[in-house]
Formats: sequence, C-alpha cells, structure tokens
Amino acid sequence: MRLSRYFLPVLRENPAEAQIVSHRYMLRAGMIKQQAAGIYSWLPLGYRVLRRIEDIVHQEQARAGHIPLLMPTLQPADLWRESGRYDDYGQEMLRITDRHKRDLLYGPTNEEMITDIFRSHVGSYKDLPLTLYHIQWKFRDEIRPRFGVMRGREFLMKDGYNFDIDKDAALHAYNRHMVSYLRTYERMGLTAIPMRAASGPIGGDNTHEFLVLAATGESEVFYDDRVTGLKLGDRVVDFDDRAEVAGICKEFTTLYARTDETHDPALFDQIPEAHRKVGRGIEVGQIFYFSTKYSEPMGAVVVNDKGERVPVHMGSHGIGVSRLLGAIIEASHDDKGIIWPEGVTPFPVGIVNLKQGDAATDAACEGLYKALTAQGLEPLYDDRDERAGAKFATMDLIGLPWRITVGPRGLANGKVELTSRRTGESEEMSPEAAVDRIAQIYAAHP
Ligand SMILES: Nc1ncnc2c1ncn2[C@@H]1O[C@H](COP(=O)(O)OP(=O)(O)OP(=O)(O)O)[C@@H](O)[C@H]1O
Ligand SMILES: [Mg+2]
Repeated sequence: MRLSRYFLPVLRENPAEAQIVSHRYMLRAGMIKQQAAGIYSWLPLGYRVLRRIEDIVHQEQARAGHIPLLMPTLQPADLWRESGRYDDYGQEMLRITDRHKRDLLYGPTNEEMITDIFRSHVGSYKDLPLTLYHIQWKFRDEIRPRFGVMRGREFLMKDGYNFDIDKDAALHAYNRHMVSYLRTYERMGLTAIPMRAASGPIGGDNTHEFLVLAATGESEVFYDDRVTGLKLGDRVVDFDDRAEVAGICKEFTTLYARTDETHDPALFDQIPEAHRKVGRGIEVGQIFYFSTKYSEPMGAVVVNDKGERVPVHMGSHGIGVSRLLGAIIEASHDDKGIIWPEGVTPFPVGIVNLKQGDAATDAACEGLYKALTAQGLEPLYDDRDERAGAKFATMDLIGLPWRITVGPRGLANGKVELTSRRTGESEEMSPEAAVDRIAQIYAAHP
C-alpha cells in the first residue's frame, strides 16, 4: 500500500472526547470514527487490525476443533421468550418491531439462537461433541458507552457454544476453550490472565474471565504476580486429550487471580506478600459452563447410548474482538503512538522515503516494496512529498513495529536503515538484508 493512495485520516490534535490513550490513538491514527454514542465506523487502518484479530481467533478455534458459522444480528423475540430471558435482559437489549408488528431484537449474545439451530438438526449423542461459533456484531445498549471501542454499544464478539452429552464432556469443552483462548491472546502479544468470575445474566457456576492488566481497566483485580510469567508458547496441544488440556488449565488457574466479584481476602492473604498484587484489568473474554440452563427450557435433547432422551450440557465462550484493539493499545504504546505487536499489526513494515523524487531513492523504495510484497509482507510505503519529520511522526503514531528508512546518504553506501518501533534501535544494512530480516521476524507470525 502506498500512503499517497491510502485513506489514513490522521488527526494532529488530541480529540477532546477521548479519556484514555487507546481511544485517543485510535482516533488520531484514523482507525475509527464515531457515528453515534458507542457506534463506530472502522476506517481502513482500524479495519485491517480488526481483520488480523479475527484471523487469529479463527485459526485458534480451528486448532481446537471448533466450527465457524454465521448467525444474523437480528433475532426473533420469541426465541428469548422460550428461555425466559426476553423480560430479564432489561434495557441493555435493543428491541425492534418490524412492519408486521413482530418483535425482534439486535442480539446481545446468541445462546437462544444457537440452541434453536442445534435442536432443529441434532438428535443423537453420536453427533456430539459439537462446538459452533461465530464472529458477529452485537448490540448492548450500555448506559455509559465510553473509552471508544472498549465499551461500545455495537461491538464485534466471537461467541462459541458447546454441546455435550454430560457434564464431564462439557467441562472438557470449557477447558479446551480456555487453552485456545490463552494461545489466541498470546499471539496478539497480550498477557490475558484467566480469573475466576461471577456469572451474570449468562448463568452457570463455572466461569472464568480473561483479563489484560492495564491501569485503565474497568475491573479491579487481585492476583499472585507469578501468574503473569506463565506462557503457553508454541506447545503442541492435543485438544482431544482431556487430561492434557485439564493439566494446562490447572497450570494457569492454580495461582490466585480473581476479580472484585469473586475476591476472597482470606485466601489472598495467604500469598507471600512480595507476590500479592492489586491492580486493574480489561476483560477481553469470558468462558462459561452452564449445564442445561438453555437446553432444558428450549428442548435441546439428544438420545443417549441407552436410548434415553437427555438435555445436552452447554457452555458459551466469548472474546471481545473489537475491544481487543483498545486493550492491545493500552498494553503497548508510548508517548509517540501505538506499538503494534507483530501478530496484529495492520502492516508488517513501513517504508519511509527520505527524498521523494530522487531517482535512486525512489528506485530503492520501489525495489523494497516489490521484494516485501513478493514475500507476502505488504509494506505501507510513505511515498508522499512530505518532510522526513512528518513521515516519522505518522509512522510512530500508527505504530508499525518495523520501519525501513531509505535516503540518498545511506544508499551511497548501499545501505538502508531498519528501525524497531518498540526499542527505537536502528541498524544499517543492505536492502536485501532488511527484507530477509523482516521475513525472518514474521515467519513466527503466520
Ligand atoms: N460493550 C462492550 N463493548 C466492547 N466489548 C464488549 C462489550 N461488552 C462485552 N464485550 C466483550 O465481549 C466479551 C464477552 O461478552 P460477555 O457477555 O462476557 O461481556 P460482559 O461480561 O457483559 O462484559 P462487561 O463486564 O465488560 O460489560 C467480553 O469479555 C468483552 O471482552
Ligand atoms: Mg463477561
């Protein structure tokens, strides 16, 4: 992508309405535009990151054996009357009446609809286990939408639903989700800690929230700080192996980590003082096991191996896809702008041309552009006729993790400069070596 042809409406001034750094930078970097309270357009740069996050979610769900589908944003109210939640959900639910006076709602979540799909098509234990998920827009008429995409009214969520024959199988699905989520967040450069949570309107006793530590987080969290050192890394996990998956969950949930809703001061006080931490966190996901809460009232039953009709055991599992952009920026920025982790960056590398119009410099930039593109590493090439300072400021603000700077002085020695956005360190090398280095770095981020 050439910046001269792109749509990157960068703002020079700090927008007055933005109270936290992620909101400020997303507006300034031309990633989103607010259209109404808590409702945003995703401008090209923001949309690229959103898609990167979706890609990672899809890849990790596939690895765990979960199956994508797509349900609509609008749902018939009758489904929610069956589960009893139509009246319970309250004012957060956006209710709509169509021209035939039928009640619809803009889905805040999809337990009812997925249960309806399941009961229409599945009747035997032989079709289990089954986990279906989608990534779809949700609407919750939040009282106080704020912090940009962190607490929107319309927001993008990955929500998955497991159907299992009994509690043990459903708890395995729960664990599978926990492990797949751990890797999902790690690939986004985040440390998201599973914390025991309270269940809220979804229901059920077994539930964990995933929290990213950040001063601007809305949840108060209490934890043993050794939990932040745990990493799944690139371990190969057999998602069908119940013991292995349960073992990983145990590893990540044994140290104390809770939100204010489930905090237990007596237990907390048993942690060695040096490791006892109180802080704030951003909820980027939550998993639930809720037994037969929906399958019973909605008649989602299968025939078991003894020929009996039994309601299936279910759980639901959500990732805040759009909120993640804010969470990642809160966790990774400096006073110049965003610092994207390689896993989610909108472009892997930027090219800055220090002397637009100089034949040799232009040619070197074009050469880099072609070589990177040929490797599937689409660069963002700043080919505008701008001062170097302005180009650097834009690159720093939008936060691409790597920048290649090309100018006549370096080229005289056959060199360009490769700069890390995170450390600010630069290294001179040949254009070929720079391309190789970038390819090497991104080999770890498919
Ligand atoms: N208003 C919102 N804006 C953006 N993302 C949201 C919003 N509400 C929920 N999410 C994201 O969707 C995920 C799954 O939804 P869930 O039903 O668990 O939300 P929730 O517990 O009601 O969230 P919160 O406590 O922050 O209101 C959350 O973990 C969060 O990351
Ligand atoms: Mg939640």
